[in-house]
Amino acid sequence: MALLRHFLLSFTIVIISFVACNSNLQEDPLITTYVDDSPSYDDSDTLLFKNMIEQNTNDVLCLDQFGVSSRSLKIVNVRDYGAKGDGHTDDTQAFKKAWEVVCSSGQSVLVAPQDYNYLLKPIRFSGPCKSNISVQISGSLEASDNPSDYSEDQRHWLVFVEVQQLLVNGGGTIDGKGNIWWENSCKRNKKKPCKDAPTALTFDSCKDLIVEDLTIQNAQQIHVSFQDSTNVKASGLKVSSPGNSPNTDGIHITNTQNIKISSSIIGTGDDCISIVDGSSNVEATDITCGPGHGISIGSLGAGKSKDFVSGVLVNGAKISGTTNGVRIKTWPGGSGSASNIKFQNIEMDNVTNPIIINQNYCDKKKKPCKKMDSAVQISNVLYQNITGKSASDVAVKFDCSEKFPCKEIKMQNILLICEEGEPAKALCNNVQLSYIGNVNPRCNSQKYTN
Ligand SMILES: *[C@@H]1O[C@H](CO)[C@@H](O)[C@H](O)[C@H]1NC(C)=O
Ligand SMILES: *[C@@H]1O[C@H](CO)[C@@H](O)[C@H](O)[C@H]1NC(C)=O
Ligand SMILES: *[C@@H]1O[C@H](CO)[C@@H](O)[C@H](O)[C@H]1NC(C)=O
Repeated sequence: MALLRHFLLSFTIVIISFVACNSNLQEDPLITTYVDDSPSYDDSDTLLFKNMIEQNTNDVLCLDQFGVSSRSLKIVNVRDYGAKGDGHTDDTQAFKKAWEVVCSSGQSVLVAPQDYNYLLKPIRFSGPCKSNISVQISGSLEASDNPSDYSEDQRHWLVFVEVQQLLVNGGGTIDGKGNIWWENSCKRNKKKPCKDAPTALTFDSCKDLIVEDLTIQNAQQIHVSFQDSTNVKASGLKVSSPGNSPNTDGIHITNTQNIKISSSIIGTGDDCISIVDGSSNVEATDITCGPGHGISIGSLGAGKSKDFVSGVLVNGAKISGTTNGVRIKTWPGGSGSASNIKFQNIEMDNVTNPIIINQNYCDKKKKPCKKMDSAVQISNVLYQNITGKSASDVAVKFDCSEKFPCKEIKMQNILLICEEGEPAKALCNNVQLSYIGNVNPRCNSQKYTN
């Protein structure tokens, strides 16, 4: 860290001495960019890194004008590596070459400039890289929609793997061109075999990652997946695909710790955010969700697996036109736990199941679920300040396991009504529940009540 501070300081001095060459710099107070707004866990390293990249970008533009290039941040423009950006030439090799250069250089930025459409086949942007790097997507990245281009790996389109201190931003668009995959999905066409389609954007085994200010749309399947990663901040994302596109989760989080998603607008054909096994310390704030299946923890415990999720905070969300609002779903026969979960300050409109825990989740084909001896234990869940309208007359549904009832479920200041204004119902099974403040609807009959 001391080294990094030294680095920043020397750049700052360089910037100040050249400040006259770039008027943007004067609008951007240099010192205040160090100020962190409100980290809830220690992410000062990532923030410092981000500021360093921002400052260095100014720095290099500025210095270039003076023909000084020593010690500056390297800008690697995909167009200089052959990318045409005309929407039909394959730009895959240009991006691969540009990545090799960025990843093997010190302090550099891969830039995909705006006003171009880059047609791309699957790419793995692999680390570890020599230094902290950044990827600025300002143009539009468009997926090849020829399934044979995905023959090596059917599950991924763009993947960042094993990269540390990575910043991905730029205001551009990542478009999975998912139509062909949706048409061939077994969910749309029962005659087709059920096969996975690619995830548009995957971050695998990354550490100290910032993803911000991007549009991700029409994914082949999942839009953005964070997996096996730590210290992630994602903000200002717009994630969208049609409400009837199959399995198009917005943001999927697997085995990832310390992840904060904020100020994002997500509307797809599946979960807006799904949080599954191995994830902890997950925070989602200021989320607009819908259409889709809502914000989901799970499914957990599928195929008798032992799954764990803990420390989830959803704070501030507007959920509308979705099948679920905030949901926890687990399969009978699994084990492990989902615990320490808070859903707060949420507004619902036209949501079929605004609050739902389903411990009897299983394939629709096999309904009703077979009774099993084990279940994923759900405990310590707080629902606080959740208001709005339910599209069905059951606004609250706790369907917990008989052998492993849901424990320490708390509801505080809840007011959910039906779409037309009449009172809604709560259905509750095997839940140990307590109420604080005004809660409506409440469970009528249940085995475990405080
Ligand atoms: C990258 O960032 C980390 C964490 O902030 C820092 O420790 C490291 O020195 C940085 N590397 C370079 C080359 O700046
Ligand atoms: C409720 O949401 C569904 C699903 O998104 C939508 O089709 C319907 O038009 C919405 N209804 C209202 C009254 O907004
Ligand atoms: C309750 O949540 C809403 C958002 O749905 C928010 O505007 C309001 O400030 C919250 N109320 C309290 C007391 O926190």
